[in-house]
Amino acid sequence: MARHLVTSALPYINGIKHLGNMVGSMLPADVYSRYLRQRGHDVLYICATDEHGTPAELAAKAAGVSVAEFCAQAHDAQKDVYDGFELAFDYFGRSSSQQNVEITQHFSRKLWDNGFIEERAISQVYSPVDGRFLPDRYVEGTCPHCGYDKARGDQCENCTRVLDPTDLLEPRSAISGSTELEVRETKHLFLLQSKLQHEVEAWVARHEAEWPQLSSSIARKWLTEGLNDRAITRDLDWGVPVPADTWPELAAEGKVFYVWFDAPIEYIGATKEWADAAPDGDSRDWKSWWYEADDTVRYTQFMAKDNVPFHTVMFPATELGVREPWKKVDVVKGFNWLTYYGGKFSTSQKRGVFTDAALETLPADYWRYFLVANAPESDDSSFTWEHFAATVNKDLADTLGNFVNRVLSFSRKRFGDEVPAGTAAGEAETRLGEEIARLLAEYEEHMDALQYRKAGAALRALWSAGNSYLEEKAPWLEIKTDPEGAALTLRTAMNLIHLYSVVSEPFIPASAAAMRGAFALESDTATWVTAEQTKSLDAVPAGTPFTVPPVLFAKITEEDLESYRERFGGADA
Ligand code: 2FM
Ligand code: ZN
Repeated sequence: MARHLVTSALPYINGIKHLGNMVGSMLPADVYSRYLRQRGHDVLYICATDEHGTPAELAAKAAGVSVAEFCAQAHDAQKDVYDGFELAFDYFGRSSSQQNVEITQHFSRKLWDNGFIEERAISQVYSPVDGRFLPDRYVEGTCPHCGYDKARGDQCENCTRVLDPTDLLEPRSAISGSTELEVRETKHLFLLQSKLQHEVEAWVARHEAEWPQLSSSIARKWLTEGLNDRAITRDLDWGVPVPADTWPELAAEGKVFYVWFDAPIEYIGATKEWADAAPDGDSRDWKSWWYEADDTVRYTQFMAKDNVPFHTVMFPATELGVREPWKKVDVVKGFNWLTYYGGKFSTSQKRGVFTDAALETLPADYWRYFLVANAPESDDSSFTWEHFAATVNKDLADTLGNFVNRVLSFSRKRFGDEVPAGTAAGEAETRLGEEIARLLAEYEEHMDALQYRKAGAALRALWSAGNSYLEEKAPWLEIKTDPEGAALTLRTAMNLIHLYSVVSEPFIPASAAAMRGAFALESDTATWVTAEQTKSLDAVPAGTPFTVPPVLFAKITEEDLESYRERFGGADA
């Protein structure tokens, strides 16, 4: 048994996220955590809302409430949606927590003591029309590297390069659109990443063999371009204050840390929030996961590709510069984009399906299965309602759901409400057992390697194997000539249902629970199956009482499809 620390990129506080966001971070992290827990590992899955930065300030202003109030409400609203998706976080924290403030300030002092932070006077973009300094994200323009015309001052979303606002061609204010921008001088703290370049390179070289190609290629590209020193403070009212004991002058001016400085530190902060929230009598040792963590802690991070540079290079540089034994990531699982009919999902333009609307439309398992089995791993992948409906109907309704209902209803009709015994397993059952064991090993291999599409395909193959077995044995014919043989077939199929309930749990936890709940077993958990159990298919013995659950997955009809396309926009959206 190992200890697994799992984190997914912290969703920005402003606004409910779309499905693209969910599939590139929280959902695969949840699937992996569930899988590891089932396999008996000690898992800590941490996430939080990323609450600092200008978007929160502006959204609060628009809503006419204080930023603190806005964030508290928005955090709860996001948490509700994630509960609806059955994301089983061990803790879902907030980057504005006191814990994060303290750890972020501690990191900054250490970096200063170690000579990795410097005060510099810089010229910053000031917009007279808006009456404020414009933080990086609020300067937009054309990317000097790839020509994308909506690049932001901190990063080009198109080519993922990190930028400074002054790099942008034809810059404009993202608030007012004003191109009348000035440059004024003010003092800020700089993280001297250039001094850490070699250490980060060596660290990446030691770890990248375990990362997917997408993550290591982005890290390499970034390192080849060279690590630049970065301003890590901002002139904002909302954020982690620069500590006055170390920088009295900057603190007096009200400077706060840049959101990308404190956000990754919140992975640690939220772990401390988790420990501080322990119920009486339950002691939780947050430090053992993060500080001088022994070799048994394996840390896996999940994120979309625009976040990869921050996690493979920038945050490791920060951690290295602190010169304390903080746990660094072992595996960075990066994802490409999920598109909506080939175009961008966009929060600002309300294009695509948002997570709250998705749950209003269909149960979480439909989304979970579709998204994970079609995760944008080696390339971007496109969401279309047609593809979604076809997948739900074929894989969930026909292959899995129909199998479960057909087997249980038929057995009940013919043999009553206990699992029938029948004859001893024969040649077909032995073959089935071997086939299932082989497919399960494949599924495990892909899950261990974080290959979600392949894992989805293996899971589907497991479901199909049950259908093939049932077609081959045809108990509805068998019953006429060999009732004991039919009973064996049904008992075997019911054991497959139980096995499916275990192995499908990471993808579709609610349906898996309904499937497992059909059998009145004395003690039953979703604990993973051993190779032996797989082959012998006897977790549910003859005589076990069972019930027939309601239909697991309803088919999506042409009419439904039409209404979804109308509500959310289809190919021509
Ligand atoms: O891109 C984003 O959505 C960021 N809020 C991710 C932050 S991840 C971490 F470092 F906190
Ligand atoms: Zn670009």
